[in-house]
Amino acid sequence: MDADRRIAGVDEVPEDGTLLVTIRPTDPDGVDDADGDVGRDADGDPEAEAILTRAAGEVAAFRNYCQHWRDTRLDTDDGAFVRNGEVFCQKHGATFEADSGYCTFGPCEGAVLESVGVGVVDDAVYLEDDDYEFVRLGPAERDDDGGGSRIDFTGS
Ligand code: FES
Repeated sequence: MDADRRIAGVDEVPEDGTLLVTIRPTDPDGVDDADGDVGRDADGDPEAEAILTRAAGEVAAFRNYCQHWRDTRLDTDDGAFVRNGEVFCQKHGATFEADSGYCTFGPCEGAVLESVGVGVVDDAVYLEDDDYEFVRLGPAERDDDGGGSRIDFTGS
């Protein structure tokens, strides 16, 4: 396995939260800047984010934006809220299965988070998705606060 694609040890992926990582799309033209997890590095090249989850020992990864308002990030740099194997969107409370990304409740019920391919070798998580390169642990470069700028119906 290519060491450049090693993301983290399996033990570094929390079961009660998410591990946020920056990835770079291999096709810059395939990036939608409206997605909340997209940023630009110092050279202006696009970066995106993935959240890693671990449910019942299985690691999965998804792009870090909600299926309801795509400009809303699920993990706003401090780990998304995860309970009973479900990832919560803190904007309107949608819940997504941590292993499949399927939305079980909320305004986008039935939608599925955009999957990012990862695999485990020797207790380490590797990026296996040819659509992305691994950049670093932590958030993508962006100008705003990354939490989604729209005001929801609660005023938050
Ligand atoms: S933005 Fe995620 S549930 Fe509305």
